[in-house]
Amino acid sequence: MAQLWGGRFTKETDRLVYQFNASIYFDRRFFEEDIEGSIAHVVMLEKQGILTEEEKNQIVKGLTGIREDVKAGTLEITEKYEDIHSFVEANLIQRIGEAGKKLHTGRSRNDQVALDMKLYTRAEVVHVAEGLESLLHTLLSIMENNLETYMPGFTHLQKAQPVTLAHHIGAYFEMFKRDSLRLKDIYVRMNYCPLGAGALAGTTYPLDRVYTASLLGFEGPTSNSMDSVADRDYVIEFLAALSTVMMHLSRFCEEIILWNSNEYRFVEIDDAYATGSSIMPQKKNPDIAELIRGKTGRVYGALVSILTTMKGLPLAYNKDMQEDKELTFDAIDTVKGCLALFDGMLKTMKFHTQVMAQSAVNGFTNATDAADYLVGKGVPFRDAHGIIGRLVLYCIEKNTSIEALSLEELKGISPVFENDIYDAVSLQACVEKRLTFGAPGPEAMREVTGRNREFLEHSWLHEKNIGKWFPC
Ligand code: ARG
Repeated sequence: MAQLWGGRFTKETDRLVYQFNASIYFDRRFFEEDIEGSIAHVVMLEKQGILTEEEKNQIVKGLTGIREDVKAGTLEITEKYEDIHSFVEANLIQRIGEAGKKLHTGRSRNDQVALDMKLYTRAEVVHVAEGLESLLHTLLSIMENNLETYMPGFTHLQKAQPVTLAHHIGAYFEMFKRDSLRLKDIYVRMNYCPLGAGALAGTTYPLDRVYTASLLGFEGPTSNSMDSVADRDYVIEFLAALSTVMMHLSRFCEEIILWNSNEYRFVEIDDAYATGSSIMPQKKNPDIAELIRGKTGRVYGALVSILTTMKGLPLAYNKDMQEDKELTFDAIDTVKGCLALFDGMLKTMKFHTQVMAQSAVNGFTNATDAADYLVGKGVPFRDAHGIIGRLVLYCIEKNTSIEALSLEELKGISPVFENDIYDAVSLQACVEKRLTFGAPGPEAMREVTGRNREFLEHSWLHEKNIGKWFPC
């Protein structure tokens, strides 16, 4: 057991208490962030005349050495230390002696952990956005290649009106685009540095917080030292954004599971992304889509968990906040994994475009257009609705579709029908006429895919300084 705070105590910590209290099991994950923050801190301490140049150089060298050794696997982060902060500090003192004891000058573990968590989260906001961006590229190519691939659009899971595959996939493009922009908002809002807040009330040393903030790629320092150590809003916002990503992935997975079923046969998941059954030789199951749908629950769980942890905490730091880490890490890993797998599944999935188009024909998705045709001939819409309703019933009884009826049969329902009805209700005509911005008509869609292509070309991830900070 290696602790930083023995002085005031006369007894050893109980073993179970030590284990219960320790966070090294999981906060070892941000050893690089911890070292990064410490280097920025000592560089600033030297600039402010709080450390000598010699001390600073020794500490920076020691810290860099620890980072290299851990990365190389020659230095193990063991459970002998209470947390990652203790591990780094103890190792530094072991390595460089006296100067190492000055690292923690003007700093508390409270602002240190707030910084580490922020650095870690900030980098992960970018990584998740990169995963989203790959998926957006995949979606956009499917859209561009399928502007005239017809399929039924559904409401209540009942065939409603014809759309195109580009349009259906385009709906998901918009969702994931919003997800990406949500991450950008979070990035911008969270990008203020808590280091220098001390335990809660700042410090009496003349720290230059603006300088440390800039060394670490932040917009500036946070404005209230109590809030700095007590704030986990950015974790909550990030988990809310991750939950929304999972909700979108899950809805998409649900559709893919349906589309891949024997009944729909709209798509076929590639063998590399499907699994078999141990007993039923004919089966090819969409397990990956199901698992992604299933994992949505654990990401929501992380969000609800941290919201609940934070809700009753008085200012400023409380140990409850240590609970922010494991579930956040798990949620981040889950979402990044799901995004990558989903992207791969989508890239390799085969779309049975003929089956999709046939399904749109069979499902009376042109019934609204048939009613609109009658309206064009002077029939009031409500009457036209009734006529087409009777026509659909007739077709169901005869097991056929509107466009397969003869003109005589059509006239038997309403004398208003003429030969031009066939063009008016063809699948192609039904889709092509839908030309308002945002509608499935190929011309309207081309405008949208063009804009989305531009959106990807000017991605916020390419903006200067986003996702990068300057290691000292
Ligand atoms: N392991 C702690 C956490 O994750 C670090 C901060 C400890 N601060 C303290 N005052 N005990 O929150």
